[in-house]
Amino acid sequence: MSRVVEQYQRACHSLAGGVSSSTRLNRAVGHAMYFDRAAGCKLWDLDGKEYLDLCCSHGATLLGHGDPRVRQAVERALERGAACSYENEQHAELAELLCDVIPCLERVRFTGSGTEATMHCIRLARAYTGKQKLLKFEGNFHGYHDQVMFAIGTPADQLGPENHPSLYPGSTGIADGLKEQLIVVPYNRVDLLEQAFYDHGKELAAVIGEPIYYNAGCIIPSEEFIEALRDLTARHGVLLIFDEVLSAFRMGLGGAQEYLGVMPDLCTLGKAVGGGYPLSAFGGRQDIMDRLMPIGDCQHSGTYNGHPVVVAAALAAINAYREPGFYDHIHTIAKSLCDGLTALFARHGIAGRVQGLGARFGIYFGVDGEVRDYRDAVKHQREQMLRFIKAAIERGVYFHDYGGAACHHGFCAAMNANDVTDALRRLDLAFSRV
Ligand SMILES: Cc1ncc(COP(=O)(O)O)c(C=O)c1O
Repeated sequence: MSRVVEQYQRACHSLAGGVSSSTRLNRAVGHAMYFDRAAGCKLWDLDGKEYLDLCCSHGATLLGHGDPRVRQAVERALERGAACSYENEQHAELAELLCDVIPCLERVRFTGSGTEATMHCIRLARAYTGKQKLLKFEGNFHGYHDQVMFAIGTPADQLGPENHPSLYPGSTGIADGLKEQLIVVPYNRVDLLEQAFYDHGKELAAVIGEPIYYNAGCIIPSEEFIEALRDLTARHGVLLIFDEVLSAFRMGLGGAQEYLGVMPDLCTLGKAVGGGYPLSAFGGRQDIMDRLMPIGDCQHSGTYNGHPVVVAAALAAINAYREPGFYDHIHTIAKSLCDGLTALFARHGIAGRVQGLGARFGIYFGVDGEVRDYRDAVKHQREQMLRFIKAAIERGVYFHDYGGAACHHGFCAAMNANDVTDALRRLDLAFSRV
């Protein structure tokens, strides 16, 4: 028996579901993957089989696995004793760097995960505005805390009308009353957004959204939608929160807000910000961030916030993203990979579409028009996609299935032109199995 499958069976006896995180089960193969080692854009499983990694730690390892610059920074932090729960000079250095490169940041706070970052932003928005309600977009994902676990992964037959989308819960165990605080609007729909502000503008503390909707693969919002979003929130005294946990550093140093040319009031950063180590951040306008204790009255604290090892890793990673040519390389690889995948759909006579921006992309089987919102994305042929992912994994290209409606995939900066050619060659064989 394969050591990977053996490990899964063993893990199921002590780890709930055999995994440390529910979405770590890859449904395309029916078990979690167990990796022995990783370097650059490659992974090796417990059986010694090599994979080109097109998941890249769900976007966290933008530089690739085991990047020597990050590793050196981590080793130095360990040598200094890694005095956790205390500040050192690198915290301010990292905060200055982030305020320099991310347009909306005047003040920043560090925390441990994307989930914590969105949770604290929402609390802060309520504290600042004195209002309660939150508007989110159908299908947008903001982590696993109870406030935002609605209207994610909604099955196609339970979406409800587009002017009143269902508040489908992403989990059991969420207190009923919470959904009363939430207004849900389909992504990219100016008419429905205007209607929601007409109906609820006075009660809204904040709108939270993915400025590039990567959690449905990759959906770039229309200019009109993003402009309407900024305009309506500003006119109604509602804070605009861009959840850049996935989009930050993906297509440029300033993230989606720089790419779209729109300044939110607050934003979250996660995944790539820590260079593969568990750091997230949130921040924005100084007058809002000053509401945090110890200056203000809104609590944000945590024993592991700004752990010295992850702060050191983040500094090394962001300095690597700033190196000349970094994003030229990302965009060159993105183009050859996405064009190559599109060509494979055509060559195999399979209906499908690839949408990408920077280092992440979505593949939609059975879809031909542009995917503009969750309702478009959920129409993709999930069974065909699972067959593709399984065949790709058999041929040594690792894609992850998250179990939801659509998936995002991505590559890291360690990938070069030869790796893309190699990936496309292996995927050509996988397409023939679809
Ligand atoms: C946009 C967005 N927000 C928040 C999160 C939650 O981040 P974490 O898994 O670090 O808690 C994710 C994770 O995928 C995400 O994509």
